[in-house]
Amino acid sequence: MSLMPSNAHPHVVQALLGLFAQPQAQALFAEGLPERCADCAARFLCGLPMPWEEAGAGPLAALSGQQPCAGGRVRILLTGCFDLMHAGHYNALRQAKATFRQAGYDEVQLVAGVHSDVAIASQKGPPVTPHAERVELVKACKWVDEVAEDLPYAVPVRLLDDLGCDFAVHGDDLPRIGSGGLFDEVQKAGRLRIVKRTEGTSTTDLIGRLMSMSKEHQIKGVASEGLVSSLERTAKPVLLPTISRLVEFHEQLGPGPLNGDRALDGAHRDGASVIEGRQPSAPSRLAGRRVVYVPGVWDLFHVGHVRFLQLAARHGDFVLVGALSDADVNRRIGRNYPLQNLHERALSLLSCRYVNDVLLSAPWKVSQDMLTTMNISVVCHGSTDFWDIDLANQGDPFELPRQLGILQRLDTGCEVTVHLIAHRIWLHSEEYAIRQQKKESEEKRYVANKAFVDEA
Ligand code: CTP
Repeated sequence: MSLMPSNAHPHVVQALLGLFAQPQAQALFAEGLPERCADCAARFLCGLPMPWEEAGAGPLAALSGQQPCAGGRVRILLTGCFDLMHAGHYNALRQAKATFRQAGYDEVQLVAGVHSDVAIASQKGPPVTPHAERVELVKACKWVDEVAEDLPYAVPVRLLDDLGCDFAVHGDDLPRIGSGGLFDEVQKAGRLRIVKRTEGTSTTDLIGRLMSMSKEHQIKGVASEGLVSSLERTAKPVLLPTISRLVEFHEQLGPGPLNGDRALDGAHRDGASVIEGRQPSAPSRLAGRRVVYVPGVWDLFHVGHVRFLQLAARHGDFVLVGALSDADVNRRIGRNYPLQNLHERALSLLSCRYVNDVLLSAPWKVSQDMLTTMNISVVCHGSTDFWDIDLANQGDPFELPRQLGILQRLDTGCEVTVHLIAHRIWLHSEEYAIRQQKKESEEKRYVANKAFVDEA
């Protein structure tokens, strides 16, 4: 109370002490704009309802400097490059939604803002994935309600307002250009929320794995042995494969899989395209479902995967994805593939709106026991040549479903594969080498200075 003028009337001081005893007021005075604080004090002295007591005010409304949406709704924006989309991007989108749900909002609309190719090129160097593919991937993420395309790099208050958003959300690695923070304005306005940046995974890291041919990311032997040895081998953070994170990715409310193509038929509203036709999240029971089984590698989750899963979803109402182990993949493809370990690949799959569940370290061959245990009605595979490779002489993995007449070969017509992505990187290897140096030192600085942030 030292800020109180010494000649303030004792009744005013007394009343304001009562105001400051309230936790909502303490939070508002810690983060709010001066005008917002003055408004709050004036309301209190005049006996008017406080911002957090007004009908429809969500729990964060008092902090926002914004009129809350009626009925406890909030609309939030998370922007990104979403280049080589990985578990860190998915976890940021997941946490953005979870943070506001945990704060008590009934409905959270998440707008994912995708930076333009030009904006990325000017900040980081050329993106590996072209804008249209990045947008398609973001739309396929089960936590995303709308996508705003071709955004510039900075997020001023004006952008939030244009998109009708109450808050911006970002990981705890806020970007800067020169001495300026790109989120300074929204932060000052009390309209920024921070979520935990996901350790051990980044676009830079993935490009580095491809360029250096390192195998450090792969899980060798049994899972626990693999994690410990990779933690010991490298001083770099690795994605920590906790069960709770897998559970959150699997269970946390998402729109659930879609039938047909409706997910990508976005209507346009307020500069963002709305993802239509969403269904409530499906329970993970297999009984009474037509289960579609789709085994694969799923490395560097890309539009080819999304389109394939979208087609597979039309063959049933429960998509069970089999993800082969790192060792199995490496035996078949060689070099340092897969570029993402099983845990990283599983998190990307679980974020996809067409996926209901993931079978970790899926067996190479589809057996009768699997078909029965998982209640599988149909098995689908793609048109890439991966399945034709028979290095280990283990025979046709689809012999049984072929005999039973439940095998479907699906052709997406999409030419994007992990090898095409690798080719894109090799094509611009000199530019990426420069980008790597800059980004790696930024990431090292982040790791050196990072503090604990709870995961939402
Ligand atoms: N993000 C995260 N964890 C990561 C990588 C990104 O939480 N490992 C978050 C960022 O903090 C941001 C969002 O994902 O809120 C989109 O980030 P983007 O701009 O695409 O990525 P970068 O932060 O540059 O990271 P990367 O190099 O991996 O693309």
